[in-house]
Amino acid sequence: MQKRQLLRALAAALALPALGSVHAADPIKIGLILPMTGQQASTGRQIDAAVKLYMAQNNPVIAGRKVEVIVKDDASTPDQTRRLAQELVVNDKVVALAGFGITPSAMATAPIATQSKTPMVVMAAATSAITEASPFVVRTSFTLPQAAVAIAEWANKNGIKKVVSLVSDYGPGIDAEKYFADRITLNGGQVVDKLRTPLRAPDFAPVLQKVRDASPQALFVFLPSGQGAAFMKQFAERGLDKAGIKLIGTGDITDDDQLNDMGDVALGVVTAHHYAAAHKSPVNQKFVEAFKKANNGMRPNFMAVGGYDGIRVIVEGLKASKGEGGEKLLAAMKGQIFESPRGQMLIDGQTRDVVHDMYVRKVERVGGELQNVEFDAIKAMKDPGKSK
Ligand code: PHB
Repeated sequence: MQKRQLLRALAAALALPALGSVHAADPIKIGLILPMTGQQASTGRQIDAAVKLYMAQNNPVIAGRKVEVIVKDDASTPDQTRRLAQELVVNDKVVALAGFGITPSAMATAPIATQSKTPMVVMAAATSAITEASPFVVRTSFTLPQAAVAIAEWANKNGIKKVVSLVSDYGPGIDAEKYFADRITLNGGQVVDKLRTPLRAPDFAPVLQKVRDASPQALFVFLPSGQGAAFMKQFAERGLDKAGIKLIGTGDITDDDQLNDMGDVALGVVTAHHYAAAHKSPVNQKFVEAFKKANNGMRPNFMAVGGYDGIRVIVEGLKASKGEGGEKLLAAMKGQIFESPRGQMLIDGQTRDVVHDMYVRKVERVGGELQNVEFDAIKAMKDPGKSK
């Protein structure tokens, strides 16, 4: 009896080092901060679903360790984003931070990335200056100057000379307003009025009245993902579509998350963007099908693609760094080139920003559904915000 107890104690003692060695197989953690609630919740829902899809499809194991994604909800409140990032770095020891639904959230977190040398992958926010806020920022979304310049060029080529612009009054809107106006003016067009609405709870009625009074050939609009449907509804209710004012914009206003429910007012709207669910390629067809299947038929939008490509850039980077974070992971993200559901894309080794095709698209009814149908593109476009 005594001997058996002794043996048991011995076995337990021997098992201890084995338990200790479990540390070598601790998961590699990635912190994903998204607006899962509040005004930008559709962005969080889309990116979270895309990251989950990528993880389920690839199930990455790197240097014998699983990769774990920790999702945190910042309700698109920059103070929250910053606090959550700090906790993820200090307590959870994440190798990378990712997500960032709006520019102020990304800007608030950039100093933490710099101080802790943690790569920070921006999957949604799109103000040009974000990549300059920290040398650890890498972007897989897009930039507003890319989309605004592309649609301005289309307007110039299509005889649109007199335009009013309407943007959301913060970083990406200010970029959109400036780059659209600069380009269209350069080519002989004119922006006769520049209107802005607040990011939180915007009321479009007063600005739409001003648009009507100015009677431009076209109205150029940037609003953050999630506001497009409400805007379209008021545009139609005020009869602006019938008044012959052509609606153009960045693709955020014909967001695939909401487009199919916008109704006839969206038909014919021309926008420029890096992703459409209707993009014709085998890689995208496979992505859209798998995304819908995993999410009750939900159509992926450009936010989903920013998330899908962002987690890919992190996982491929970790493979090259053998699971290490910091400078090694950052170096392994720079210069990555691959075929995304959006088309070919590159993480510029110098700017850490995304280089991709900017498509010009028109909303059409295809097989009973509203789609952004691509008909032209500026190839391999860098961020015009950085070529100064
Ligand atoms: C941003 O805050 O940078 C942002 C948010 C939503 C968009 C585009 C940009 O659709």
